[in-house]
Amino acid sequence: MKVKSQTLGILGGGQLGRMSALAAARLGIKTIILCPEKGCPASLISTGFIEADYLDKEALKQLADQCDIITYEFENIPLKTIEFLQDFVPVYPDHKLLEASQNRLKEKKFLNDIGIETAPWAPCHKADDIKATLEEWQTRECIIKTARFGYDGKGQIFYKDNSDYLESWNSLRTDEAIIEGVIDFDYEISVIVARDEKKTVKTYPIGINEHKNHILWKTTAPAHIPDEIQNEAARLAHLVAEKIELIGVLTLELFITKDGRVLANEIAPRTHNSGHWTIEATHASQFENHVRAVCGLPLGSTDAFAKATMINLIGDDVNDIPGYLEQDNAHIHLYGKEEARDGRKMGHVTIVEKF
Ligand SMILES: Nc1ncnc2c1ncn2[C@@H]1O[C@H](COP(=O)(O)OP(=O)(O)O)[C@@H](O)[C@H]1O
Ligand SMILES: [Mg+2]
Repeated sequence: MKVKSQTLGILGGGQLGRMSALAAARLGIKTIILCPEKGCPASLISTGFIEADYLDKEALKQLADQCDIITYEFENIPLKTIEFLQDFVPVYPDHKLLEASQNRLKEKKFLNDIGIETAPWAPCHKADDIKATLEEWQTRECIIKTARFGYDGKGQIFYKDNSDYLESWNSLRTDEAIIEGVIDFDYEISVIVARDEKKTVKTYPIGINEHKNHILWKTTAPAHIPDEIQNEAARLAHLVAEKIELIGVLTLELFITKDGRVLANEIAPRTHNSGHWTIEATHASQFENHVRAVCGLPLGSTDAFAKATMINLIGDDVNDIPGYLEQDNAHIHLYGKEEARDGRKMGHVTIVEKF
C-alpha cells in the first residue's frame, strides 16, 4: 500500500517556520521553505528550500508546483505574493488576515469594527497630526508607531511632554503612522487560537508576557489570572478567528488594565513567540496545530499538562546555554543563527514543572 504524504510550502524562513517544519515532519508532512535568505533557520531543517524574493513569480510558481498547500510564517509577505499563489494552490490563512495585520491603522479599525476595544488611536501622516491629536485628547504623551513593518518595538517612539513634533515625526522615517494613547496596563497577555476547516476553534491557555527593551523576554503559562479575564481573552480571540474565517493559528496580544479591562494591542497572523512553551507543555503545540489546520487535519488538544516558563535567548544570552544544559527541566531550542547580534532572537529555553 502506498501512503501519500503532503507537502507544505512555507513563505518565510525564520524560527517560526523552523518550528512549524519540525512539527510537520513529525506528522509525516514534507516542507519547502521559500525565503530570500540563504541559510535561514527554517531552511536548515526543511525537506526543500527555494532561495528567492517573495515577488519572484518564477520561484513562486516552482513552489506552488511542488506543494499541496502553502502557508506563511511572518506578516510582511506581500499580499501580491499570496494572490499570485492562490491561483495554483490553496494558501492558508486567507490573505484577509494578512491584510488586517500588516497595517496598524487597518488592524485597529478592524478590531474596533468587530466590537473589540483598543487603545485610543488616530492616523498620523505629518508632524501636525501629533499636535492636533494630543490637543484633542488633552494629553501630553502618546506612542507613535509606523503603520507597517514594525516589530520588537522597532518603528515606535514614546512621545512625551513638549518634544519637538517635527523631530519626532522625522525620526520615524515614514509617511504613515498611528498615534496611540498610552495604556497604563497592569500586565500583558497573549491568546493563541487555532481554527480548522471544520470551523472547530481551540484556544491555548493564556501566557503572561514580560518584555525587555521592547522585546519579549519571558512568558509564564498557564497564567494565574482571574477566570473572567481568561474567558474574555478567549472570547475576543474566537471572535477574530471567526470574522477572519481563520484556517491556521493566530495570536491576539492584549493589555489588561488595572481596572480589569481587556484591550487588544495587535494581531499576529501566525504562531507567536509567547506560544513556544506549548511545544513541551501542551498535547499539540501551536506549530503542530497550525500545520494540522492548514493541511486539513483535525486540531489536537490545546490543554496544558504542565507549567512552563519560556525565556528568550536574545543576542549574547546564548552564552547561558551551558547552565541550561545542566538543568533537568530546561528544554533548549536554538535556531541555527550563526551571528549573535544585539536584540536578535537566537533561541529559547522552556522550563517545565509539574502542576
Ligand atoms: N498603546 C500602548 N500603551 C502602552 N504600551 C504599549 C502601547 N503599545 C505598545 N506598547 C508596549 O510596546 C510593546 C510593543 O508594541 P507592539 O504594538 O506590540 O509592537 P511590536 O510587538 O510589533 O513591536 C507592547 O508589547 C507594549 O509593551
Ligand atoms: Mg507586539
